[in-house]
Amino acid sequence: MKPQLSNFQNIFKGKKVIITGHTGFKGTWLTMWLLMLGAKVKGIALNPYSNPSHYKKLKLSKMIIDKRFNILDRKRLTKEIIQFKPDFVFHLAAQALVKSSYTDPISTWDTNLSGTINVISALRKLKSKCAAVIVTSDKCYKNKEIKRGYRENDELGGYDPYSASKGAAEIAIQSYIKSFFNRNTNTKVSIAIGRAGNVIGGGDWSKDRILPDCIRSWSKNKKVIMRSPYSTRPWQHVLEPLSGYLTLAQNLEYNYKLHGEAFNFGPKETLSRSVMDLVKEMSLYWQNVKWKIVHDKKIKEAGLLKLNCKKARDLLQWKSNMNFSQTVKLTANWYKDFYNKNSDVPHITKQQIILFVSLAKKNKLIWSK
Ligand SMILES: NC(=O)c1ccc[n+]([C@@H]2O[C@H](COP(=O)([O-])OP(=O)(O)OC[C@H]3O[C@@H](n4cnc5c(N)ncnc54)[C@H](O)[C@@H]3O)[C@@H](O)[C@H]2O)c1
Repeated sequence: MKPQLSNFQNIFKGKKVIITGHTGFKGTWLTMWLLMLGAKVKGIALNPYSNPSHYKKLKLSKMIIDKRFNILDRKRLTKEIIQFKPDFVFHLAAQALVKSSYTDPISTWDTNLSGTINVISALRKLKSKCAAVIVTSDKCYKNKEIKRGYRENDELGGYDPYSASKGAAEIAIQSYIKSFFNRNTNTKVSIAIGRAGNVIGGGDWSKDRILPDCIRSWSKNKKVIMRSPYSTRPWQHVLEPLSGYLTLAQNLEYNYKLHGEAFNFGPKETLSRSVMDLVKEMSLYWQNVKWKIVHDKKIKEAGLLKLNCKKARDLLQWKSNMNFSQTVKLTANWYKDFYNKNSDVPHITKQQIILFVSLAKKNKLIWSK
């Protein structure tokens, strides 16, 4: 694809980028954005799991090197990474759902912990220069229901298998960085960690996520079921943490001091809203919407989750681009375009990326240059 954007000081233009989890929600948006920035992308993931699938609708497999296999296959993963000699790696592949982690804890632990170790082990064998961003989650923190946002040096933890596996992955990453990616090991690979909160945006049809649940139910005139209506989450549009990961990779490329650092990427702290706030705001864009509250006592989820993003502001000059209502509006418009016109998904998604970038320029965000 011809480059259509020139942000992040054009650092991704012509560069080789590996994205693990490119068939998933964040992965599809990141792949499209990087293609628009002129990168050459190789994706490593399982087959798209949802129907409809944003990945299939975007026809991304025609535009990238598309590899489908399990990241637990360490031999193949290492070969694919080493052969490609990537300039950048974004590791997003994960079992990313809290509820599924209760039904399948073992494969959640396998993918999120051993899969991440496999990615970093492969990076150890890379002789060329590479900046890698490993994505974990805001749920990696030990949840203490504290009112102030979690800071990067807060205690790690996690109650449910998903959150605990992400906390454990963080410990493994730090151990690998200290032991094998230090100044004595002659590595040209630098690694940093991105922690973001709950993201929303077009093209997500995951099970048991509130926004896709709303879309699925309301497009069939059904009630949406809410499990924890008063839980607050640092909701963000999917392009927000992606702008954070890209900024982090850009900075990591020339600032070795960032090697080994973790960064929170979240909305302005005052913007943490509840599940109910999100559903009500979303309902402004849909007709005849209904909801029902059904508590699920088997699933323990944090009541209050907030992130402190001062470190990203201070060291990367990164901040979020949109407020809550802009975030929901952009998301709702994507689904409305999709269901009303059943139209050209690559066009809808690309236009939203262009809109987000032009808003960032207006907001004078550093990455938009
Ligand atoms: N979506 C959110 O709200 C959110 C919030 C915080 C953190 N995250 C993190 O961001 C990352 C991406 O999340 P997402 O929402 O795009 O998830 P997703 O479920 O939509 O996509 C997951 C991707 O990982 C791939 N994958 C899963 N298991 C794999 C395996 N064993 N081998 C190879 N590929 C595998 C899938 O094929 C898919 O491409 C994950 O690390 C997730 O934990 C997501």
